[in-house]
Amino acid sequence: MADTNAETSPAKAKVAVFVSGTGTNMAALLYASRLPGAAYEIVLVAANDADAGGLQIAATEGVATFALSHKGMSRADHDAAMEKAALDAGAQYIALAGYMRILSPGFVQRWEGRMLNIHPSLLPQYTGLDTHARAIEAGDAHGGVSVHLVTEELDAGEILGQIAVAIMPGDTPDTLAARVRLAEHQLYPRVLGDYVSRGSDPRHLLERLRALALALPQTHERESHGAPGFRVGSEKSGKYFAHFSDRHHGTPHISLLVKCSGMDELEHFVETQPEAYHKPAYYGASGWIGIILNRPGLDWEAVDEWLQRSWRQVAPKSVTRLLDAADEF
Ligand code: GRF
Repeated sequence: MADTNAETSPAKAKVAVFVSGTGTNMAALLYASRLPGAAYEIVLVAANDADAGGLQIAATEGVATFALSHKGMSRADHDAAMEKAALDAGAQYIALAGYMRILSPGFVQRWEGRMLNIHPSLLPQYTGLDTHARAIEAGDAHGGVSVHLVTEELDAGEILGQIAVAIMPGDTPDTLAARVRLAEHQLYPRVLGDYVSRGSDPRHLLERLRALALALPQTHERESHGAPGFRVGSEKSGKYFAHFSDRHHGTPHISLLVKCSGMDELEHFVETQPEAYHKPAYYGASGWIGIILNRPGLDWEAVDEWLQRSWRQVAPKSVTRLLDAADEF
């Protein structure tokens, strides 16, 4: 089906998939990526075994492949070669799909927040191997599958999505695994698609912003002209220090509006860094600057600093007095 929105739809995230075996999850990811509107594309399928079935599927489907046996190589060297292949293919994310290797810490750190894995259990239960046998043995009502971010600790990163699969009387590890596999093929493409779209999803951006804004002292949320806003001070006499703006007045930006020190500063940022800042309609005229949130490489620490600065500008003296005193030392 032709993508009639090709010019307006956002660029697809580029994903490398690492496999060791049959690669049915890789295939599920691949076919989902070929649906209209998919948020990611697969730029490489890489394996540590040249006979991995997944490689053949990928090659037949016209996807670039890379194979390198780990035998006789140090873990770090093998990881580095796999990583180089992913980077050469332009990958921004790595999806592990039955990749039966423990990864070296340096590699995991470099891809933190950009590497996902699928694990056949309801984590945090049953990390490691033989998950289905262990669930049946324990008399559990459900097995299942989890997709999670990869961190140094095995199968312990943030869980991004799960599906529970009921265990039937008489299930063996194989019969259960076969049904869990069906759930895996539903879960992984959905979770990966949602994850790579987070940076342009207003709900996700607002959720992160809200957490930062409400972590500041004496703050509360209140709508302003139909959009979320954050105030400091009492419910009665509080003042706005931040507004959330979702593509208002024809701009493509999802942004945080905060108080600038004045018009000069505002104009300066908007002129010198137009990819990061904009002058919002109406608010701009009274010194509010728009910090663009739906862009690649957004630095949340910088967003937090802007929030703090804006908070401090409008917070009542009774709240900032202590901070001001601390600054003097
Ligand atoms: C799946 O069960 C997955 O959960 C686990 O390894 C298996 C890979 O299967 N991590 P396949 O190669 O995708 O068919």
